[in-house]
Formats: sequence, C-alpha cells, structure tokens
Amino acid sequence: MTFDVNKVRADFPILAREVNGKPLVYLDNGASSQKPQVVIDAINTAYSEEYANVHRGLHFLSNLATEKYESVRGVVAKFLGASDENSIVLNSGTTEGINLVAYGWAMENLSAGDEIILSVMEHHANIVPWHFLRERMGIKLVWVDVDVTGDLDPQKVIDAITPRTKLIAITHMSNVLGTVVDVKPICEAARAKGVATLIDGSQASVHMPVDVEDLGCDFYPVTGHKLYGPSGSGAIYIRPERMAEMRPFIGGGDMIKEVHKDAVIYNDAPMKFEAGTPGIVQTIGLGVALDYMMGLGMENIAAHERVLRDYARDRLDGLNWLNVQGQSANKGAIFSFTLEGAAHAHDISTVLDKKGVAVRAGQHCTGPLMDHLGLTATCRASFGMYNTTDEVDALVDALELCHKLFA
Ligand code: ALA
Repeated sequence: MTFDVNKVRADFPILAREVNGKPLVYLDNGASSQKPQVVIDAINTAYSEEYANVHRGLHFLSNLATEKYESVRGVVAKFLGASDENSIVLNSGTTEGINLVAYGWAMENLSAGDEIILSVMEHHANIVPWHFLRERMGIKLVWVDVDVTGDLDPQKVIDAITPRTKLIAITHMSNVLGTVVDVKPICEAARAKGVATLIDGSQASVHMPVDVEDLGCDFYPVTGHKLYGPSGSGAIYIRPERMAEMRPFIGGGDMIKEVHKDAVIYNDAPMKFEAGTPGIVQTIGLGVALDYMMGLGMENIAAHERVLRDYARDRLDGLNWLNVQGQSANKGAIFSFTLEGAAHAHDISTVLDKKGVAVRAGQHCTGPLMDHLGLTATCRASFGMYNTTDEVDALVDALELCHKLFA
C-alpha cells in the first residue's frame, strides 16, 4: 500500500484550520498529536449510542461497552507485537504505566541499596517515580550519559549493570533529541543477568513498528494521546512472568473478585491492575486510532517520516545560526534547537506561532538532559505522519524571520 500524505491529512479535520490567519503547521506532535475523523466519530458514537459502565451491568449497553472496551486489549497487543493480550494493562498513559511498575513491581521486588539504571535523556515520567523509590526505600539511581551526538551507547548501559542492579528504565526514543536507542542488546544482556527492563515507548511507538517480544523487554508503556488517540488513554505491555511478580497498586472496584471485612481476593491479571471505572471512551478511541495506524502500515509511516527527517535535517543544517541538539544518525523527526544570540526559546516559539507554526518551547520534562546539554530551554519541532516537506519549508521561513528579528 502506498502512503499518500494528502489523503492522510484529509482524515484530520483540524489540519484544515488557520492559526493567526495562517494555515496551521502543527509540529508539536511530541507533546500530543491530532486526531483523525475516525477517532472523533468513535468517541461520538460511544457517547451517543453505546455508552454505559463496563464489566458491571447485565444489560445490553453495558455488555456492548464492555465488548468494545475489552477488544482494545487485543488491538494494543497486536500493535506492540505481544502474543498474549493478557500481557496488556489498559490505563491513562505512560505516566500511569511507569507508576504501576514503580509501585506494583519495584516496591515489591527491590530493597535499599538496589540500583536502577536510567539514561540522562529520560522524560520526567521515567525519572520521578524512581526518585520516589530513592526517597522512600533507599534505591540508588545510576545515570548513563549520552554522547555528543545524543546517542546512548548500549554497551555503556550494559557496563553499568552491577550485582545490585534490578531494573534498567530507558527511553526507546528521546522526546527532545529524537534519538532512537538500540534497546534490544540492552534487554538481552539485562535478561541474561536477571535484570528487568522498562522501555519507555511514548515516542517510539508513534513513529516506527514495535515488537516487544523481539525487543525482549519486560515493561513497555505507551500513551494514547500521542498515538493519534484520545488523551487519558494508554496501555502498558508487561511480560507475563513479571506480571506474576506484581501486586496491585491502585485499589478499588473492578480489580477485585471478593471483598470482606477481613479479606480481599483480587481479580485475575491484568484486571487486578485496573481499578475503578476506566477511561472507557478514551480507550475505545485508542483502539480505533491504533487500527487506523496499522491500516496505513507502521512501515509506511516510518518511511514517510524518514523523508521528513532527512529533508528537515538538510534544511536546518543550512541555517548556520541555528544550534540543533542531537545529531544521531539514528534519530526520528524530532528537532530541538536554540538560536545563536539572546532569543529565548519562548520568544522563538511565539514568533513561529504568529506564522501558524506550532512548536513546543521549554525543558520538555527533561531536567537532567537540559543540565547535560548546559541549556535551560530549547524550541522543539516534532513531526508526525501527516506533516509534509512544505511544512518543513514553512518552519524554516519562520525561523529566518526570527533570525532577522533577534540577530
Ligand atoms: N512528553 C511530552 C513532550 O515531550 C509532553 O512534550
């Protein structure tokens, strides 16, 4: 199947709007992506025709909503290459997924002095839960640097393993530099030493095919709102052997079989990790979004974005007053940059916005990476499947205006 970006764009109604009198050039997909009409329609249908609570009612609508909601487990499993749909916990996104691993697995299986290896380019969602364990349990955080191109050498991560290492928690793709980490050798080496691996799939799963069983990781969280699905949706793959080592984290309805005054019997996994009324409609929308992506083909999406990356890299390289952070040969179409001179990232993004170009400016929830780069903020243009080379040109034109204004 050929990938026709104009057809894809036509599926996303918001892309037809103007911002500040200019056609929208949406380059903030790293923060959150736009939604195709099929997802918007699915949300509308779920609320207008098919809504009730799930897993509870013995009535038509509850059964229908339960069926629709539960079918998403299988869609996520297929999307991530997991052979067992019960290895998927549905949730609100990566932050919840990583906190589940911290509270449900790590708190049960780690003790004071044990070590967790992190890279300096982790998102705060893959840092702060581990700080909780450092503060509360005396867990040691071991940091591995990226090199000058923004690459994370897998061997450096493997070399950081000690007899006290219990978990390696690293991103599959940096949300700031776009670096794709070669996680497979890390997962293999970790597994051979009995060390668990959490691979943060928030960014990578949006841009390339992922096969968690081929990667060999133990935990792989993803976030629906970046995957062209609703905000408040998400999932985490958990290797069944690891799931068996976990205790429930959030308690409440739905995750139990029986509750008595002096005892509680939990539901079977993965349900025992999904307490309370879930994001029913959000999750149904996530399933539709993933089907939409798989319909286009993840290889096709990745190929289109490689063209965008190469074109953007060439055009941005031509701006000798622009400092692009992270020049890995193996990076996705995410570009963080600063402008020579005094212009702050927020000022640059404001000028770009006036031209209809939406980017993110700031720390991007990556304090340790900003410290490592010696920066307080960058501007970030992050591309998605519906972006075009014309939009790269629009970004460059707007940056040239910034240069004129601030030089
Ligand atoms: N993690 C999101 C980003 O990178 C919010 O912008």
